[in-house]
Amino acid sequence: MDTTNRRQWLKNSLAASATLSLFPLNAFSEINEDYYREHNNKSTVRRLLYNENHLGPSKNVENIIKQVIFRSNRYSTFYEYDAKALKQLIAKQEGLKPENVLLGHGSFEPLIWTATHFGSKGEQIIVPSPTFDVIGLFARKLGANVTPVEVDSDFRMNLTEMESKISSKTSLLTLCNPNNPTGTAIETERLKSFCRLVSDKTTVLVDEAYIHFMDSWRNKSMAPLIAEGKNVLVTRTFSKIYGLAGLRIGFMLGPESLIAEMEDKFTLGFPGNMPNSLSVASAIISLKDDAFLETSKNNNIKIRNAFYNELDKLGLNYIRSEANFIYFDVKNFKAYKELMLKNKILLAGGWPTKSNWARVTMGSEDDIGFLFDKMKGKKWL
Ligand SMILES: Cc1ncc(COP(=O)(O)O)c(C=O)c1O
Repeated sequence: MDTTNRRQWLKNSLAASATLSLFPLNAFSEINEDYYREHNNKSTVRRLLYNENHLGPSKNVENIIKQVIFRSNRYSTFYEYDAKALKQLIAKQEGLKPENVLLGHGSFEPLIWTATHFGSKGEQIIVPSPTFDVIGLFARKLGANVTPVEVDSDFRMNLTEMESKISSKTSLLTLCNPNNPTGTAIETERLKSFCRLVSDKTTVLVDEAYIHFMDSWRNKSMAPLIAEGKNVLVTRTFSKIYGLAGLRIGFMLGPESLIAEMEDKFTLGFPGNMPNSLSVASAIISLKDDAFLETSKNNNIKIRNAFYNELDKLGLNYIRSEANFIYFDVKNFKAYKELMLKNKILLAGGWPTKSNWARVTMGSEDDIGFLFDKMKGKKWL
């Protein structure tokens, strides 16, 4: 397939997914790709679309990359910053064993593996909607019966409804906490009891890509359920608060036997093909950098509050967010999109069910000031 055909194919499959009421993953269909390519790397472009950390990566990451780049000619194995060391550190921090950890290129890769593992024999997979639905989109391509369950009127994942959809064919139920694009989170004890109960009937996966933006986030994770022996998978990423999106590293936590099976099935356990040496070293340094996490979290809270303030002034509806983005009603997505692109603000939104809602990543103070400056006084708002 040449590039044009591949792009067309991608557009078609995203369009097909949209009509099936699954949630397109991001802003692909909302952006004029030529414009994007032309402006992407220019400093005038404001990337408020992918929920990246505009502060990152941390200085410590920059330093470690300078230290390890000289041995990029080597596979990363047997060095102090190798995949084994990263798994050990993650396991220690989570109160689990290295055997509970599966590394991937971003969390996207473990999500795709999970879709393949649980969805290639026509099984039923239950997913919230809207969500960042890698699993639903991919599993459907493999022939799985994907059942999306709409969020409730508070934009929270509808756990009762999701549970009611479980059948003898269900192989997997996925959750995202906090959820993308709504930014809502489920109260921890409620989510824990749900996962404990439901994981007796089917495997439960919780995507925790944005959990670090919540206060006392460790107490809110579902990872401890794995130590309890529950049939639960948890994915995390270094792409969001850690500011390493371009380095492509993430991981999945789960029961030892399932992690071993998936690691063997999808990676052959070949250590040389673990995420690359720069990303592994950066991930290790990031996990030890509590100060950077704290600064990023506090900065996000400050920007989020300023954003709410501006939305209140304009009288626009929004959902209070636990993550580094806000989902809000722009009333006329087409006009909003035109305004944003004209001003080189890259955006996301206009998705099925809430076609006039947009999702905005919390960029810098300057980005947010600029965005509202452009929105003020617009008749369609
Ligand atoms: C909820 C959620 N999960 C997973 C991902 C995948 O991110 P990555 O592959 O960079 O880890 C994203 C990306 O935006 C996301 O929003």
